[in-house]
Amino acid sequence: MESILITGAAGHVGFALTQKFFKEGWQVFATCLPQDRTPAFNDFAEQSQGRVRIFELDITDAKNISSVAAALKDQPIDILFNVAGLTVTGDLVFGQTDYEMWDKHFAINTKGPMRMCEAFAPHVIASKRKVMMTISSRMGSKPNYGHVGYRATKSAVSQVMFQVGIALKDKGVIAAACHPGWVQTKNNGNKGALTPDQSAAMLYQVVTSLRPEDTCKFFDPDGTTLPLVTQQTQPKPYAMT
Ligand SMILES: NC(=O)c1ccc[n+]([C@@H]2O[C@H](COP(=O)([O-])OP(=O)(O)OC[C@H]3O[C@@H](n4cnc5c(N)ncnc54)[C@H](OP(=O)(O)O)[C@@H]3O)[C@@H](O)[C@H]2O)c1
Repeated sequence: MESILITGAAGHVGFALTQKFFKEGWQVFATCLPQDRTPAFNDFAEQSQGRVRIFELDITDAKNISSVAAALKDQPIDILFNVAGLTVTGDLVFGQTDYEMWDKHFAINTKGPMRMCEAFAPHVIASKRKVMMTISSRMGSKPNYGHVGYRATKSAVSQVMFQVGIALKDKGVIAAACHPGWVQTKNNGNKGALTPDQSAAMLYQVVTSLRPEDTCKFFDPDGTTLPLVTQQTQPKPYAMT
C-alpha cells in the first residue's frame, strides 16, 4: 500500500488531504500539533482500521521530528506532504516590523519543511514514488503589497524545495512546491474560491502525477507551473563602458 505523511493534517487543507488520500486507499501518517487532535480528527483515525495513524508533531521542534522519524524507521513514505503553515497577514507598517512574529513565520513556513525533508529523506528514498511536496503560496511570487512576513517565508520555501530537488536528484527524489488555490479557511473568513475538499482533490491529482522531470517545479493546483526561479543560471555578462 502506498503511504503519505502529511504535516498540519488537522488544518483545513491538511484534513481534506488526509480524507482524500484515505479514500483513495493510501496509508496516511497524519501529523498535527497536540492541541489540534480534535475529537473529529481522532474519530476519523479510529474508524480507519489503522490506515490513518496520528502523530503529534510540531515542525519547528527538531527533537519531536526526530522521534516521529524514528517511530517510522524502515517505513517507506511515498509522499512527504508539508502542509503545515502559519498565515499572519497585514500591511507592512514600515519602521514597525514585528521581528518576533517574522522569526515564528520563518520557523514554521520555511525551516519547518526543510527540517521535515532532511529528517524523512531516508523514508522517502526507500519508497517507490519518492516525492517531497511543500505547500507554498502564489503570494510568495505575486508582485502585490503587504503581508510581508508571509510572502517572504513562502518565496523562501519555494526556493527551499528547488534546492532539495537538486540535492536529492541523484537519489531519484522529486521535490516540488505547490499553491493550493485560494481556499476557504478561518484565516480568510471563508472567502476563498475553493473549498478545502476541492483544493485537496486538485492537489491529489498534481502530487500523484509527478514525474522525475517535475522536480524543482512550483505547481498551481490545476497542474500548470508557476515561475519559481529565473532560467538564467550563469552570471550575466554586463556590458562595461
Ligand atoms: N487557505 C489558502 O487560501 C492558502 C493559500 C495559499 C497557501 N496556503 C497554505 O496552505 C497550507 C494549509 O493552510 P490552511 O489554509 O489549511 O490553513 P490552516 O487550517 O491554518 O492549516 C495550517 C495547519 O498548520 C498547523 N501548524 C501551524 N504551526 C505548526 C507547527 N509548528 N507544526 C505543525 N503544524 C503547525 C496549524 O495548526 P494551528 O491551527 O493549531 O495553528 C494548522 O492545523 C499552509 O501552508 C498555508 O500557508 C493556504
